[in-house]
Amino acid sequence: MPHRDVHNPLLFEIAWEVANKVGGIYTVIKTKAPVTCQEYGDRFTLIGPLSYKTAAAEVEPEEPTTPHVREVLEGMASQGVRYMYGRWLIEGAPRVLLFDTQSVLDRMDDWKGDLWNVANIPSPPNDTETNEAILFAIIAHFHEWLAGIAIPLIRKRHIDVSTIFTTHATLLGRYLCAGSVDFYNNIQNFIVDEEAGKRGIYHRYCVERAASHCSDVFTTVSDITAYEAEHLLKRKPDGILPNGINVIKFSAMHEFQNLHAVNKQKIHNFVRGHFYGYYDFDLDNTLYFFTAGRYEYRNKGVDMFIESLARLNDRLKACNSPMTVVAFIIMPAATHSFTVEALKGQAVTKSLQETVKDITDKIGQRIFEKAARYTGGDITGAVIDPSELLSAEEKVLLKRRVIALKRSSLPPIVTHNMADDSNDPILNQLRRLQLFNNPSDRVKVIFHPEFLNSNNPLIGMDYDDFVRGCHLGVFPSYYEPWGYTPAECTVMGLPSISTNLSGFGCYMDETIENPADYGIYIVDRRMKSVEESIQQLANYMLTFAQKTRRQRINQRNRTERLSDLLDWKIMGMEYVRARKLALHRTYPDSFSGHDLSDLHNSKVKLPKPLSAPGSPRIRGNGGYSNTDQITNGVADMSFNLNNDEEDEYPFPLPLRRRSSASEGD
Ligand code: UDP
Ligand code: G6P
Ligand code: GLC
Repeated sequence: MPHRDVHNPLLFEIAWEVANKVGGIYTVIKTKAPVTCQEYGDRFTLIGPLSYKTAAAEVEPEEPTTPHVREVLEGMASQGVRYMYGRWLIEGAPRVLLFDTQSVLDRMDDWKGDLWNVANIPSPPNDTETNEAILFAIIAHFHEWLAGIAIPLIRKRHIDVSTIFTTHATLLGRYLCAGSVDFYNNIQNFIVDEEAGKRGIYHRYCVERAASHCSDVFTTVSDITAYEAEHLLKRKPDGILPNGINVIKFSAMHEFQNLHAVNKQKIHNFVRGHFYGYYDFDLDNTLYFFTAGRYEYRNKGVDMFIESLARLNDRLKACNSPMTVVAFIIMPAATHSFTVEALKGQAVTKSLQETVKDITDKIGQRIFEKAARYTGGDITGAVIDPSELLSAEEKVLLKRRVIALKRSSLPPIVTHNMADDSNDPILNQLRRLQLFNNPSDRVKVIFHPEFLNSNNPLIGMDYDDFVRGCHLGVFPSYYEPWGYTPAECTVMGLPSISTNLSGFGCYMDETIENPADYGIYIVDRRMKSVEESIQQLANYMLTFAQKTRRQRINQRNRTERLSDLLDWKIMGMEYVRARKLALHRTYPDSFSGHDLSDLHNSKVKLPKPLSAPGSPRIRGNGGYSNTDQITNGVADMSFNLNNDEEDEYPFPLPLRRRSSASEGD
């Protein structure tokens, strides 16, 4: 038997979103890869499903270098398993192994039988997502139920591997919240099997519950989801692995402010085109708010966002505000194409812009010619008469372009032809509240039912650039285990609104003395009534709309300063702890002498810097409590700021010290 080196283990991290973008789990895996590569080097491999459409752009194929990995893969290939092995083309270039689940389709029935015989998990014939998950199952650190099928099988068969299961939500929680259930007040009372059965997800629920119970270490991404898991999956997580981000540090301190200004101009261009004919507001007094994410109407709080926008509209009108708010909703839905109206707006505005450019070039030429021909005598003759600047044809052309800008309908509230326009919840709510982009409206809305990218003919910007160009991200989620979108705003220096039902919102609230001072607004959706929460959200937006430019700039500086808190260099430490705990539990004999007490209260050192040193303000003081609960690295300063005026250098962070004991200890 080969010697097992538990102190230098191989690490496999398995998720459905490895090199396969769906939502936030892709962001977790991709942004965490650099710190994990640094810790594990060649011993780290990510495993995911092979999607031929995207894999070619995401992965550079190569031969496995480790002999036993090569041997195992050759063995699998000889049995007909197709895969792609190589480097994921992201920072850190981790090794990835993507399996083509279709290549093992003929084993499906055997494996389904296995799942039933070994772990008592049923799998109905028609659930294609579950079927794909069954074909995919392998080993080690698993994210979400879709990757977790192997865990109960590993446990029952006593396979020599240490397992961690991280869930980024619970299936049942997500479903219950999406309905009209008062979830958090009833969480103790749900009859879970019955609720899962009613929603046709009993078999998926079994996978998730078995994975959480059979893993050596069970974790989730936030306290709120830990609480949910305890009640719905019936196992209290061993710890929390909050999500980090790769923080990009610019050499010039205010570069992110410049990027805001540059990208805002690009959004201006789109807005000019979209509101043509009715574009009568001042862009200098216009603010861009947005929400974005998977289309989960209630869970992502779009319902609350739209309701509060209507209130904001009324209040801006009532106080005669000079400000216009353009609110974007970026949420993919089934569509047929862009609307002709939306495309036409960009086209006619572009033609006008080009015509004006042509004409001004010609005017310049004329001024130059006249001046260059001056040969002496009356100097006034060298300067063209302003009335001759435009030729008669140019005037006609310009008029024609301006006439093309006229339109009979209001600027559209949606940019695409929806597959199911009359039943779309977002459109229906906008209609009910009459948010129709009337000239008198101070809040204009644009629903863009597709994720953004730079090839888009309307808003030709990548998502990150779009975020930078906006003023405020609004994410009033009801169900949000973590919520990357406000976290991404923070590291780009953009203020955001989240809620105390989102992992991110709670984390920031626990970590910062007065988050609002830093542009982190948190709506209370836990203790307040729905109406009160709507009012609170509308108030936050109104107060924001009343800030001066100087106050906004200063607030963005403060927001950006929180970046270090969310850096994987800090957050990644929790993964280090979870892996240690898993090894301790699986191979206790190998750790005799420095067993779990070694993890309790111990400070895990920050890994050496990747490129720039970690912020000296932040230190990891996490440690496992006596119940193995994982706490988070926090900074050790306390300071209070109460206004929007300019800060002075150096800028301390007003951070709360977290106690190492967590809820329920
Ligand atoms: N996102 C994107 N393009 C868009 C809008 C969102 O790539 O146009 C990304 C966003 O950057 C984030 C992810 O989608 O990383 C959503 O993750 P989150 O954790 O907020 O929600 P989830 O979808 O996982 O519930
Ligand atoms: C950045 C730029 C400034 C610009 C400002 C606009 O800070 O560096 O030059 O004036 O953005 O801010 P606003 O909030 O009005 O878009
Ligand atoms: C899930 C959650 C989201 C979280 C993401 C990454 O998709 O819905 O809140 O940010 O996973 O953990």
